[in-house]
Amino acid sequence: MVVVLFQLKTYCAWNYKSKLSKNFVNLIVIENQKNNKIMELGRYWWWAVVLVLFHLGMNGVLGCWEQERIALLQYKASTINYTDEYNFTPWDSADKESDCCEWEGVKCNITTGHVIQLALNVTMTYSSGRERYFNASLFLPFEELQYLDLSSNSIAGWIPNEGFERFSALRMLEVLHLGDNDFNNSILQSFTSTIPSLKELHLDSNSLNGSIHIQDFKAFNNLEELYLGRNYINEFVTTEDSNSLSKLQVLDLSYNNFNTRILKSLAVFPSLKILNIGGNNLEGSYTTKELSALNNLEQLYLDDSSIDNSFLHKVGVMNSLKVLSVQYCNLNGSLPAQGWCELRKLQEIDLSYNNFEGMLPSCMANLTSLQVLDLSNNHFTGNIAHSRLPSLTSLRVLDLSNNHFTGDIAHSQLPSLTSLTGSNPRKIWFNFSKFRIIKHV
Ligand SMILES: *[C@@H]1O[C@H](CO)[C@@H](O)[C@H](O)[C@H]1NC(C)=O
Ligand SMILES: *[C@@H]1O[C@H](CO)[C@@H](O)[C@H](O)[C@H]1NC(C)=O
Ligand SMILES: *[C@@H]1O[C@H](CO)[C@@H](O)[C@H](O)[C@H]1NC(C)=O
Ligand SMILES: *[C@@H]1O[C@H](CO)[C@@H](O)[C@H](O)[C@H]1NC(C)=O
Ligand SMILES: *[C@@H]1O[C@H](CO)[C@@H](O)[C@H](O)[C@H]1NC(C)=O
Ligand SMILES: *[C@@H]1O[C@H](CO)[C@@H](O)[C@H](O)[C@H]1NC(C)=O
Ligand SMILES: *[C@@H]1O[C@H](CO)[C@@H](O)[C@H](O)[C@H]1NC(C)=O
Ligand SMILES: *[C@@H]1O[C@H](CO)[C@@H](O)[C@H](O)[C@H]1NC(C)=O
Ligand SMILES: *[C@@H]1O[C@H](CO)[C@@H](O)[C@H](O)[C@H]1NC(C)=O
Repeated sequence: MVVVLFQLKTYCAWNYKSKLSKNFVNLIVIENQKNNKIMELGRYWWWAVVLVLFHLGMNGVLGCWEQERIALLQYKASTINYTDEYNFTPWDSADKESDCCEWEGVKCNITTGHVIQLALNVTMTYSSGRERYFNASLFLPFEELQYLDLSSNSIAGWIPNEGFERFSALRMLEVLHLGDNDFNNSILQSFTSTIPSLKELHLDSNSLNGSIHIQDFKAFNNLEELYLGRNYINEFVTTEDSNSLSKLQVLDLSYNNFNTRILKSLAVFPSLKILNIGGNNLEGSYTTKELSALNNLEQLYLDDSSIDNSFLHKVGVMNSLKVLSVQYCNLNGSLPAQGWCELRKLQEIDLSYNNFEGMLPSCMANLTSLQVLDLSNNHFTGNIAHSRLPSLTSLRVLDLSNNHFTGDIAHSQLPSLTSLTGSNPRKIWFNFSKFRIIKHV
Protein backbone atom coordinates (compact mmCIF):
# COMPACT_ATOMS: atom_id res chain seq x y z
CA MET A 1 0.00 0.00 0.00
CA VAL A 2 2.71 2.44 0.98
CA VAL A 3 4.57 1.58 -2.20
CA VAL A 4 1.48 2.25 -4.27
CA LEU A 5 0.98 5.56 -2.56
CA PHE A 6 4.59 6.48 -3.10
CA GLN A 7 4.29 5.68 -6.78
CA LEU A 8 1.08 7.60 -6.96
CA LYS A 9 2.69 10.66 -5.42
CA THR A 10 5.68 10.41 -7.68
CA TYR A 11 3.36 10.13 -10.63
CA CYS A 12 1.42 13.16 -9.52
CA ALA A 13 4.48 15.29 -8.92
CA TRP A 14 5.96 14.27 -12.23
CA ASN A 15 2.73 14.72 -14.05
CA TYR A 16 1.77 17.80 -12.11
CA LYS A 17 1.05 19.97 -15.12
CA SER A 18 -0.38 17.17 -17.18
CA LYS A 19 -3.98 17.02 -18.19
CA LEU A 20 -6.01 13.90 -17.86
CA SER A 21 -7.34 12.84 -14.51
CA LYS A 22 -4.80 14.86 -12.54
CA ASN A 23 -7.50 16.66 -10.61
CA PHE A 24 -8.95 13.46 -9.32
CA VAL A 25 -5.59 11.91 -8.48
CA ASN A 26 -4.24 15.05 -6.84
CA LEU A 27 -7.41 15.43 -4.89
CA ILE A 28 -6.91 12.04 -3.29
CA VAL A 29 -3.35 12.89 -2.37
CA ILE A 30 -4.24 16.29 -0.96
CA GLU A 31 -7.09 14.78 0.98
CA ASN A 32 -4.68 12.21 2.28
CA GLN A 33 -2.04 14.75 3.26
CA LYS A 34 -4.62 16.73 5.10
CA ASN A 35 -5.73 13.82 7.21
CA ASN A 36 -2.24 12.40 7.37
CA LYS A 37 -3.75 8.92 7.42
CA ILE A 38 -2.36 6.62 4.83
CA MET A 39 -5.09 4.07 5.33
CA GLU A 40 -7.73 6.64 4.35
CA LEU A 41 -6.61 6.00 0.83
CA GLY A 42 -7.48 2.35 1.16
CA ARG A 43 -10.82 2.40 -0.49
CA TYR A 44 -9.66 4.68 -3.35
CA TRP A 45 -6.18 3.57 -4.24
CA TRP A 46 -7.12 1.13 -7.02
CA TRP A 47 -9.07 3.89 -8.77
CA ALA A 48 -5.95 5.96 -9.00
CA VAL A 49 -4.03 3.04 -10.45
CA VAL A 50 -6.75 2.47 -13.04
CA LEU A 51 -6.60 6.14 -13.99
CA VAL A 52 -2.82 6.13 -14.15
CA LEU A 53 -2.79 3.06 -16.38
CA PHE A 54 -5.55 4.54 -18.51
CA HIS A 55 -3.58 7.75 -18.86
CA LEU A 56 -0.34 6.00 -19.72
CA GLY A 57 -2.13 3.86 -22.27
CA MET A 58 -3.75 6.82 -23.90
CA ASN A 59 -1.11 9.47 -23.97
CA GLY A 60 2.10 7.61 -23.71
CA VAL A 61 4.45 8.54 -20.91
CA LEU A 62 5.06 12.03 -22.25
CA GLY A 63 1.69 13.73 -21.92
CA CYS A 64 1.37 14.49 -25.61
CA TRP A 65 1.02 12.00 -28.40
CA GLU A 66 4.32 10.66 -29.63
CA GLN A 67 3.51 11.01 -33.34
CA GLU A 68 2.53 14.64 -32.80
CA ARG A 69 5.68 15.34 -30.82
CA ILE A 70 7.75 13.88 -33.66
CA ALA A 71 5.81 15.95 -36.21
CA LEU A 72 6.45 19.14 -34.26
CA LEU A 73 10.15 18.39 -34.14
CA GLN A 74 10.07 17.68 -37.88
CA TYR A 75 8.53 21.09 -38.44
CA LYS A 76 11.19 22.62 -36.25
CA ALA A 77 13.91 20.87 -38.26
CA SER A 78 12.36 22.03 -41.53
CA THR A 79 12.74 25.69 -40.54
CA ILE A 80 16.36 25.55 -39.51
CA ASN A 81 17.74 27.09 -42.70
CA TYR A 82 15.19 29.89 -42.72
CA THR A 83 15.84 31.69 -39.53
CA ASP A 84 18.74 33.49 -37.90
CA GLU A 85 17.97 33.22 -34.27
CA TYR A 86 16.52 29.89 -33.50
CA ASN A 87 12.93 30.57 -32.56
CA PHE A 88 12.04 27.28 -31.01
CA THR A 89 13.91 27.24 -27.71
CA PRO A 90 10.89 26.04 -25.76
CA TRP A 91 10.59 23.13 -28.15
CA ASP A 92 13.17 20.97 -26.52
CA SER A 93 13.93 17.92 -28.61
CA ALA A 94 16.57 16.66 -26.16
CA ASP A 95 14.23 16.48 -23.18
CA LYS A 96 12.19 13.38 -23.85
CA GLU A 97 10.03 14.02 -20.80
CA SER A 98 8.84 17.44 -21.91
CA ASP A 99 5.17 17.51 -22.74
CA CYS A 100 4.72 18.99 -26.23
CA CYS A 101 1.28 20.26 -25.27
CA GLU A 102 3.10 22.81 -23.12
CA TRP A 103 5.34 24.03 -25.90
CA GLU A 104 4.93 27.59 -27.04
CA GLY A 105 2.28 27.97 -29.73
CA VAL A 106 0.87 24.48 -29.14
CA LYS A 107 -2.51 23.84 -27.60
CA CYS A 108 -3.99 20.40 -26.96
CA ASN A 109 -7.43 19.14 -26.20
CA ILE A 110 -7.50 18.49 -22.49
CA THR A 111 -9.50 15.28 -22.93
CA THR A 112 -7.88 13.61 -25.90
CA GLY A 113 -4.37 15.02 -25.50
CA HIS A 114 -4.28 15.73 -29.25
CA VAL A 115 -2.95 18.99 -30.66
CA ILE A 116 -5.83 21.29 -31.66
CA GLN A 117 -4.05 24.62 -32.20
CA LEU A 118 -0.70 25.48 -33.72
CA ALA A 119 0.43 29.10 -33.76
CA LEU A 120 3.53 28.84 -35.94
CA ASN A 121 3.48 32.44 -37.12
CA VAL A 122 6.82 34.22 -37.44
CA THR A 123 8.86 31.04 -37.05
CA MET A 124 10.87 31.83 -40.15
CA THR A 125 12.48 35.06 -41.25
CA TYR A 126 13.19 36.29 -44.73
CA SER A 127 16.77 37.25 -44.04
CA SER A 128 18.05 34.03 -45.51
CA GLY A 129 16.97 35.49 -48.86
CA ARG A 130 15.65 32.10 -49.84
CA GLU A 131 12.11 31.61 -50.97
CA ARG A 132 10.47 29.22 -48.67
CA TYR A 133 8.49 26.34 -50.15
CA PHE A 134 6.28 24.41 -47.91
CA ASN A 135 5.49 20.76 -47.32
CA ALA A 136 1.87 20.59 -46.19
CA SER A 137 2.21 16.90 -45.30
CA LEU A 138 4.15 17.90 -42.21
CA PHE A 139 0.80 18.73 -40.61
CA LEU A 140 -1.05 15.53 -41.40
CA PRO A 141 -0.19 13.83 -38.07
CA PHE A 142 -2.31 16.44 -36.28
CA GLU A 143 -5.60 14.75 -36.91
CA GLU A 144 -7.58 16.92 -34.51
CA LEU A 145 -6.05 20.22 -35.63
CA GLN A 146 -8.62 23.01 -35.65
CA TYR A 147 -6.48 26.12 -35.91
CA LEU A 148 -3.26 26.58 -37.86
CA ASP A 149 -1.40 29.89 -38.02
CA LEU A 150 1.42 29.98 -40.57
CA SER A 151 1.34 33.72 -41.13
CA SER A 152 4.49 35.86 -41.53
CA ASN A 153 6.78 33.04 -42.61
CA SER A 154 7.91 34.18 -46.10
CA ILE A 155 6.26 31.15 -47.67
CA ALA A 156 6.23 31.49 -51.46
CA GLY A 157 4.43 28.29 -52.30
CA TRP A 158 4.16 24.56 -51.78
CA ILE A 159 6.51 21.75 -52.68
CA PRO A 160 5.02 19.99 -55.75
CA ASN A 161 2.34 17.49 -54.71
CA GLU A 162 2.75 18.46 -51.05
CA GLY A 163 0.46 21.48 -51.24
CA PHE A 164 -2.78 22.71 -49.95
CA GLU A 165 -4.66 19.71 -51.34
CA ARG A 166 -3.14 17.68 -48.50
CA PHE A 167 -5.09 19.64 -45.94
CA SER A 168 -8.31 17.91 -46.90
CA ALA A 169 -7.12 15.12 -44.58
CA LEU A 170 -7.37 17.50 -41.64
CA ARG A 171 -11.02 16.82 -40.98
CA MET A 172 -11.36 19.32 -38.13
CA LEU A 173 -9.41 22.28 -39.51
CA GLU A 174 -11.54 25.40 -39.12
CA VAL A 175 -9.14 28.34 -39.18
CA LEU A 176 -6.14 28.71 -41.47
CA HIS A 177 -3.87 31.76 -41.30
CA LEU A 178 -1.60 32.17 -44.32
CA GLY A 179 -1.41 35.97 -44.19
CA ASP A 180 1.77 37.99 -44.65
CA ASN A 181 3.57 35.46 -46.84
CA ASP A 182 4.59 35.52 -50.52
CA PHE A 183 1.86 33.43 -52.10
CA ASN A 184 0.93 34.43 -55.64
CA ASN A 185 -2.14 33.39 -57.63
CA SER A 186 -0.79 29.89 -58.09
CA ILE A 187 -1.96 29.10 -54.55
CA LEU A 188 -5.51 29.28 -55.89
CA GLN A 189 -4.79 26.36 -58.22
CA SER A 190 -3.81 24.19 -55.27
CA PHE A 191 -7.25 24.57 -53.69
CA THR A 192 -8.35 21.38 -55.37
CA SER A 193 -9.70 19.01 -52.76
CA THR A 194 -12.42 20.13 -50.44
CA ILE A 195 -11.86 21.14 -46.84
CA PRO A 196 -15.46 21.05 -45.65
CA SER A 197 -14.57 21.97 -42.09
CA LEU A 198 -12.77 25.21 -43.00
CA LYS A 199 -14.60 28.32 -41.77
CA GLU A 200 -11.90 31.01 -41.90
CA LEU A 201 -9.19 31.55 -44.51
CA HIS A 202 -6.68 34.37 -44.13
CA LEU A 203 -4.66 35.22 -47.23
CA ASP A 204 -4.15 38.91 -46.58
CA SER A 205 -0.81 40.63 -47.30
CA ASN A 206 0.37 38.22 -49.98
CA SER A 207 1.09 38.72 -53.69
CA LEU A 208 -2.23 37.80 -55.26
CA ASN A 209 -2.80 40.00 -58.30
CA GLY A 210 -5.08 40.53 -61.27
CA SER A 211 -8.40 38.80 -61.15
CA ILE A 212 -9.62 36.03 -58.90
CA HIS A 213 -12.63 33.88 -59.65
CA ILE A 214 -15.37 32.62 -57.35
CA GLN A 215 -14.62 29.09 -58.61
CA ASP A 216 -11.12 29.38 -57.12
CA PHE A 217 -12.79 28.88 -53.74
CA LYS A 218 -15.04 25.94 -54.56
CA ALA A 219 -13.03 23.70 -52.22
CA PHE A 220 -14.37 25.59 -49.22
CA ASN A 221 -18.07 25.05 -49.32
CA ASN A 222 -18.58 26.04 -45.69
CA LEU A 223 -16.27 29.03 -45.58
CA GLU A 224 -17.69 31.87 -43.49
CA GLU A 225 -14.80 34.33 -43.41
CA LEU A 226 -12.38 35.19 -46.20
CA TYR A 227 -9.58 37.71 -45.78
CA LEU A 228 -7.85 38.90 -48.97
CA GLY A 229 -6.84 42.41 -47.90
CA ARG A 230 -3.51 43.99 -48.89
CA ASN A 231 -2.91 42.16 -52.14
CA TYR A 232 -2.97 43.49 -55.73
CA ILE A 233 -6.30 42.05 -56.87
CA ASN A 234 -8.33 44.18 -59.27
CA GLU A 235 -11.29 41.98 -60.05
CA PHE A 236 -13.42 39.35 -58.32
CA VAL A 237 -15.23 37.45 -61.06
CA THR A 238 -18.45 35.92 -59.80
CA THR A 239 -21.26 34.06 -61.49
CA GLU A 240 -24.88 33.86 -60.42
CA ASP A 241 -25.13 30.10 -60.75
CA SER A 242 -22.10 29.25 -58.63
CA ASN A 243 -22.86 28.03 -55.15
CA SER A 244 -19.26 28.48 -54.00
CA LEU A 245 -18.91 30.63 -50.92
CA SER A 246 -22.63 30.48 -50.38
CA LYS A 247 -22.11 30.66 -46.61
CA LEU A 248 -19.68 33.57 -46.71
CA GLN A 249 -20.46 36.11 -44.01
CA VAL A 250 -17.28 38.16 -43.71
CA LEU A 251 -15.23 39.37 -46.67
CA ASP A 252 -12.18 41.59 -46.45
CA LEU A 253 -10.97 43.00 -49.77
CA SER A 254 -9.38 46.14 -48.36
CA TYR A 255 -6.23 47.69 -49.86
CA ASN A 256 -6.33 46.03 -53.27
CA ASN A 257 -6.89 47.57 -56.71
CA PHE A 258 -10.64 47.18 -56.98
CA ASN A 259 -12.88 49.77 -58.61
CA THR A 260 -16.63 50.42 -58.35
CA ARG A 261 -17.47 47.23 -60.29
CA ILE A 262 -16.67 45.22 -57.17
CA LEU A 263 -20.01 45.98 -55.52
CA LYS A 264 -21.87 44.46 -58.44
CA SER A 265 -19.87 41.21 -58.26
CA LEU A 266 -20.52 40.83 -54.54
CA ALA A 267 -24.28 40.70 -54.99
CA VAL A 268 -24.01 36.91 -55.47
CA PHE A 269 -23.07 36.25 -51.84
CA PRO A 270 -26.41 35.74 -50.14
CA SER A 271 -25.08 35.49 -46.59
CA LEU A 272 -22.60 38.36 -46.64
CA LYS A 273 -22.91 40.45 -43.48
CA ILE A 274 -19.57 42.22 -43.05
CA LEU A 275 -17.71 43.76 -45.98
CA ASN A 276 -14.50 45.75 -45.96
CA ILE A 277 -13.55 47.31 -49.29
CA GLY A 278 -11.64 50.25 -47.84
CA GLY A 279 -8.36 51.36 -49.37
CA ASN A 280 -9.50 50.83 -52.95
CA ASN A 281 -10.31 53.34 -55.67
CA LEU A 282 -14.09 53.43 -55.59
CA GLU A 283 -14.55 56.66 -57.51
CA GLY A 284 -17.45 56.73 -59.92
CA SER A 285 -21.10 56.45 -59.18
CA TYR A 286 -23.14 53.57 -57.86
CA THR A 287 -26.70 52.87 -58.83
CA THR A 288 -29.25 52.27 -56.11
CA LYS A 289 -29.86 48.92 -57.82
CA GLU A 290 -26.27 47.83 -57.15
CA LEU A 291 -26.48 48.93 -53.55
CA SER A 292 -29.88 47.38 -52.87
CA ALA A 293 -28.52 44.03 -54.09
CA LEU A 294 -26.41 44.10 -50.92
CA ASN A 295 -29.30 44.72 -48.61
CA ASN A 296 -28.36 41.91 -46.23
CA LEU A 297 -25.12 43.65 -45.31
CA GLU A 298 -24.85 44.68 -41.69
CA GLN A 299 -21.41 46.28 -41.65
CA LEU A 300 -19.76 48.19 -44.48
CA TYR A 301 -16.26 49.66 -44.26
CA LEU A 302 -15.09 51.98 -47.04
CA ASP A 303 -12.38 53.80 -45.11
CA ASP A 304 -9.53 55.35 -47.05
CA SER A 305 -11.24 54.86 -50.42
CA SER A 306 -12.15 57.69 -52.73
CA ILE A 307 -15.89 57.48 -53.04
CA ASP A 308 -18.40 59.54 -54.93
CA ASN A 309 -20.18 62.26 -52.98
CA SER A 310 -23.52 60.80 -54.07
CA PHE A 311 -22.87 57.62 -52.08
CA LEU A 312 -24.52 58.87 -48.89
CA HIS A 313 -27.53 59.93 -50.97
CA LYS A 314 -28.02 56.40 -52.23
CA VAL A 315 -26.91 54.22 -49.33
CA GLY A 316 -30.38 54.39 -47.75
CA VAL A 317 -31.44 51.30 -49.73
CA MET A 318 -29.01 49.09 -47.80
CA ASN A 319 -31.61 48.79 -45.13
CA SER A 320 -29.92 46.12 -42.96
CA LEU A 321 -26.87 48.27 -42.30
CA LYS A 322 -25.91 48.61 -38.65
CA VAL A 323 -22.36 49.92 -39.10
CA LEU A 324 -21.11 52.28 -41.81
CA SER A 325 -17.61 53.66 -41.86
CA VAL A 326 -16.34 56.23 -44.38
CA GLN A 327 -13.26 57.68 -42.65
CA TYR A 328 -10.73 59.40 -44.92
CA CYS A 329 -12.93 59.16 -48.03
CA ASN A 330 -12.42 62.73 -49.28
CA LEU A 331 -16.11 63.44 -48.95
CA ASN A 332 -16.99 67.14 -49.08
CA GLY A 333 -19.94 69.51 -49.16
CA SER A 334 -22.71 69.22 -46.62
CA LEU A 335 -24.15 65.99 -45.34
CA PRO A 336 -27.05 65.00 -47.60
CA ALA A 337 -30.51 65.68 -46.19
CA GLN A 338 -31.77 62.28 -47.34
CA GLY A 339 -30.57 58.77 -48.13
CA TRP A 340 -28.26 57.82 -45.28
CA CYS A 341 -30.85 59.09 -42.74
CA GLU A 342 -33.18 56.31 -43.87
CA LEU A 343 -30.92 53.64 -42.36
CA ARG A 344 -33.25 52.92 -39.46
CA LYS A 345 -31.12 50.08 -38.11
CA LEU A 346 -27.89 52.07 -38.16
CA GLN A 347 -26.09 51.84 -34.81
CA GLU A 348 -22.67 53.23 -35.70
CA ILE A 349 -21.54 55.72 -38.31
CA ASP A 350 -18.03 57.06 -38.73
CA LEU A 351 -17.78 60.14 -40.94
CA SER A 352 -14.49 61.36 -39.51
CA TYR A 353 -11.51 62.75 -41.46
CA ASN A 354 -13.46 64.07 -44.43
CA ASN A 355 -14.09 67.61 -45.60
CA PHE A 356 -17.74 67.89 -44.69
CA GLU A 357 -18.94 71.39 -43.97
CA GLY A 358 -22.17 73.19 -43.11
CA MET A 359 -24.77 72.28 -40.55
CA LEU A 360 -26.01 68.85 -39.58
CA PRO A 361 -29.15 67.99 -41.57
CA SER A 362 -32.42 67.63 -39.66
CA CYS A 363 -33.13 64.20 -41.21
CA MET A 364 -30.61 62.82 -38.71
CA ALA A 365 -33.45 62.69 -36.23
CA ASN A 366 -34.61 59.57 -38.06
CA LEU A 367 -31.52 57.61 -37.00
CA THR A 368 -33.23 56.42 -33.88
CA SER A 369 -30.99 53.33 -33.42
CA LEU A 370 -27.75 55.31 -33.58
CA GLN A 371 -25.40 54.62 -30.67
CA VAL A 372 -22.03 55.79 -32.00
CA LEU A 373 -21.59 58.95 -34.07
CA ASP A 374 -18.15 60.15 -35.10
CA LEU A 375 -18.16 63.52 -36.89
CA SER A 376 -14.64 64.49 -35.86
CA ASN A 377 -12.05 66.12 -38.12
CA ASN A 378 -14.39 67.83 -40.58
CA HIS A 379 -15.47 71.44 -41.02
CA PHE A 380 -19.00 71.22 -39.66
CA THR A 381 -20.50 74.47 -38.38
CA GLY A 382 -23.64 75.48 -36.55
CA ASN A 383 -24.97 75.55 -33.05
CA ILE A 384 -25.33 71.98 -31.83
CA ALA A 385 -28.01 73.03 -29.37
CA HIS A 386 -30.18 73.79 -32.39
CA SER A 387 -29.27 70.60 -34.24
CA ARG A 388 -31.24 67.39 -34.09
CA LEU A 389 -28.52 65.64 -32.09
CA PRO A 390 -30.64 65.67 -28.93
CA SER A 391 -33.23 63.53 -30.76
CA LEU A 392 -30.71 60.69 -30.94
CA THR A 393 -31.68 59.29 -27.59
CA SER A 394 -29.76 55.99 -27.98
CA LEU A 395 -26.44 57.74 -28.48
CA ARG A 396 -23.65 56.36 -26.28
CA VAL A 397 -20.56 57.76 -28.00
CA LEU A 398 -20.37 61.12 -29.72
CA ASP A 399 -17.22 62.66 -31.16
CA LEU A 400 -17.50 66.25 -32.38
CA SER A 401 -13.84 67.19 -32.07
CA ASN A 402 -11.96 69.31 -34.62
CA ASN A 403 -14.97 70.99 -36.17
CA HIS A 404 -16.40 74.52 -35.91
CA PHE A 405 -19.46 73.78 -33.82
CA THR A 406 -20.79 76.30 -31.33
CA GLY A 407 -23.24 75.94 -28.49
CA ASP A 408 -23.74 73.54 -25.61
CA ILE A 409 -25.43 70.22 -25.28
CA ALA A 410 -27.00 69.26 -21.98
CA HIS A 411 -26.49 65.81 -20.62
CA SER A 412 -30.15 65.49 -19.82
CA GLN A 413 -30.78 65.73 -23.56
CA LEU A 414 -28.63 62.66 -24.30
CA PRO A 415 -29.22 60.41 -21.32
CA SER A 416 -27.43 57.34 -22.72
CA LEU A 417 -24.21 59.17 -23.51
CA THR A 418 -21.13 57.69 -21.86
CA SER A 419 -18.47 59.28 -24.02
CA LEU A 420 -18.25 62.70 -25.57
CA THR A 421 -15.42 64.51 -27.23
CA GLY A 422 -15.71 68.10 -28.33
CA SER A 423 -13.32 70.57 -29.88
CA ASN A 424 -13.75 72.72 -26.84
CA PRO A 425 -15.02 70.50 -24.05
CA ARG A 426 -15.51 73.44 -21.69
CA LYS A 427 -18.17 74.82 -23.98
CA ILE A 428 -20.12 71.61 -23.86
CA TRP A 429 -21.95 71.01 -20.65
CA PHE A 430 -22.09 67.44 -19.51
CA ASN A 431 -21.99 65.30 -16.42
CA PHE A 432 -18.30 64.44 -16.06
CA SER A 433 -18.91 61.56 -13.70
CA LYS A 434 -20.61 59.65 -16.49
CA PHE A 435 -18.22 60.45 -19.30
CA ARG A 436 -15.07 58.89 -20.52
CA ILE A 437 -13.31 61.22 -22.90
CA ILE A 438 -12.13 59.33 -25.97
CA LYS A 439 -8.97 60.59 -27.54
CA HIS A 440 -8.18 60.26 -31.19
CA VAL A 441 -4.63 59.53 -32.18
C1 LIG B 1 19.97 23.25 -44.54
O1 LIG B 1 21.07 23.65 -45.33
C2 LIG B 1 22.12 22.70 -45.35
C3 LIG B 1 23.28 23.28 -46.10
O2 LIG B 1 22.85 23.92 -47.27
C4 LIG B 1 21.63 21.40 -45.97
O3 LIG B 1 22.64 20.42 -45.96
C5 LIG B 1 20.44 20.88 -45.18
O4 LIG B 1 19.88 19.74 -45.80
C6 LIG B 1 19.37 21.97 -45.07
N1 LIG B 1 18.33 21.51 -44.19
C7 LIG B 1 17.05 21.60 -44.47
C8 LIG B 1 16.11 21.06 -43.44
O5 LIG B 1 16.63 22.11 -45.49
C1 LIG C 1 -11.88 17.67 -26.87
O1 LIG C 1 -12.22 16.39 -27.25
C2 LIG C 1 -13.48 15.97 -26.77
C3 LIG C 1 -13.64 14.52 -27.13
O2 LIG C 1 -13.41 14.31 -28.50
C4 LIG C 1 -14.56 16.85 -27.34
O3 LIG C 1 -15.82 16.46 -26.85
C5 LIG C 1 -14.28 18.29 -26.98
O4 LIG C 1 -15.22 19.14 -27.59
C6 LIG C 1 -12.88 18.67 -27.42
N1 LIG C 1 -12.60 20.00 -26.92
C7 LIG C 1 -12.08 20.95 -27.70
C8 LIG C 1 -11.80 22.25 -27.02
O5 LIG C 1 -11.86 20.79 -28.87
C1 LIG D 1 0.77 35.06 -33.86
O1 LIG D 1 -0.62 35.07 -33.92
C2 LIG D 1 -1.26 35.31 -32.70
C3 LIG D 1 -2.74 35.20 -32.95
O2 LIG D 1 -3.04 34.94 -34.26
C4 LIG D 1 -0.90 36.67 -32.18
O3 LIG D 1 -1.50 36.87 -30.94
C5 LIG D 1 0.57 36.77 -32.08
O4 LIG D 1 0.91 38.08 -31.73
C6 LIG D 1 1.23 36.40 -33.39
N1 LIG D 1 2.63 36.39 -33.19
C7 LIG D 1 3.41 37.29 -33.69
C8 LIG D 1 4.85 37.15 -33.36
O5 LIG D 1 2.99 38.21 -34.39
C1 LIG E 1 6.81 16.02 -47.07
O1 LIG E 1 6.62 15.62 -45.74
C2 LIG E 1 6.22 14.26 -45.62
C3 LIG E 1 5.92 13.99 -44.17
O2 LIG E 1 6.98 14.40 -43.37
C4 LIG E 1 7.33 13.38 -46.18
O3 LIG E 1 6.94 12.04 -46.09
C5 LIG E 1 7.58 13.76 -47.62
O4 LIG E 1 8.69 13.02 -48.12
C6 LIG E 1 7.89 15.22 -47.74
N1 LIG E 1 7.95 15.56 -49.15
C7 LIG E 1 9.01 16.14 -49.70
C8 LIG E 1 8.93 16.36 -51.17
O5 LIG E 1 9.96 16.49 -49.04
C1 LIG F 1 4.07 31.95 -58.30
O1 LIG F 1 4.53 31.07 -57.32
C2 LIG F 1 5.04 29.85 -57.84
C3 LIG F 1 5.43 29.01 -56.67
O2 LIG F 1 4.38 28.67 -55.90
C4 LIG F 1 6.21 30.09 -58.74
O3 LIG F 1 6.63 28.87 -59.29
C5 LIG F 1 5.82 31.03 -59.85
O4 LIG F 1 6.94 31.37 -60.62
C6 LIG F 1 5.20 32.29 -59.28
N1 LIG F 1 4.69 33.09 -60.37
C7 LIG F 1 5.06 34.34 -60.57
C8 LIG F 1 4.42 35.01 -61.73
O5 LIG F 1 5.83 34.91 -59.83
C1 LIG G 1 0.82 39.46 -61.64
O1 LIG G 1 2.16 39.38 -61.20
C2 LIG G 1 3.06 38.75 -62.12
C3 LIG G 1 4.41 38.73 -61.50
O2 LIG G 1 4.36 38.36 -60.18
C4 LIG G 1 3.07 39.48 -63.43
O3 LIG G 1 3.87 38.77 -64.35
C5 LIG G 1 1.68 39.63 -63.96
O4 LIG G 1 1.70 40.44 -65.10
C6 LIG G 1 0.76 40.25 -62.92
N1 LIG G 1 -0.58 40.26 -63.46
C7 LIG G 1 -1.38 41.31 -63.36
C8 LIG G 1 -2.73 41.16 -63.97
O5 LIG G 1 -1.02 42.34 -62.81
C1 LIG H 1 -15.84 68.50 -53.58
O1 LIG H 1 -14.66 67.97 -54.15
C2 LIG H 1 -14.71 67.89 -55.56
C3 LIG H 1 -13.48 67.17 -56.04
O2 LIG H 1 -12.41 67.37 -55.17
C4 LIG H 1 -14.85 69.28 -56.16
O3 LIG H 1 -14.93 69.19 -57.56
C5 LIG H 1 -16.12 69.91 -55.63
O4 LIG H 1 -16.23 71.24 -56.06
C6 LIG H 1 -16.11 69.90 -54.11
N1 LIG H 1 -17.42 70.35 -53.64
C7 LIG H 1 -17.57 71.22 -52.66
C8 LIG H 1 -18.97 71.55 -52.29
O5 LIG H 1 -16.60 71.71 -52.11
C1 LIG I 1 -37.68 60.86 -41.59
O1 LIG I 1 -38.03 60.04 -42.66
C2 LIG I 1 -39.29 60.31 -43.22
C3 LIG I 1 -39.53 59.32 -44.33
O2 LIG I 1 -38.64 58.25 -44.26
C4 LIG I 1 -39.33 61.69 -43.77
O3 LIG I 1 -40.62 61.96 -44.27
C5 LIG I 1 -39.02 62.68 -42.68
O4 LIG I 1 -38.92 63.96 -43.23
C6 LIG I 1 -37.71 62.30 -42.06
N1 LIG I 1 -37.49 63.14 -40.91
C7 LIG I 1 -36.70 64.15 -40.96
C8 LIG I 1 -36.55 64.89 -39.68
O5 LIG I 1 -36.09 64.46 -41.96
C1 LIG J 1 -24.01 62.70 -12.71
O1 LIG J 1 -24.10 61.28 -12.91
C2 LIG J 1 -23.95 60.55 -11.71
C3 LIG J 1 -23.89 59.07 -12.07
O2 LIG J 1 -24.87 58.74 -12.96
C4 LIG J 1 -25.11 60.88 -10.78
O3 LIG J 1 -24.97 60.18 -9.57
C5 LIG J 1 -25.10 62.39 -10.48
O4 LIG J 1 -26.23 62.72 -9.71
C6 LIG J 1 -25.12 63.19 -11.80
N1 LIG J 1 -24.94 64.59 -11.50
C7 LIG J 1 -25.65 65.56 -12.07
C8 LIG J 1 -25.31 66.96 -11.68
O5 LIG J 1 -26.53 65.32 -12.88
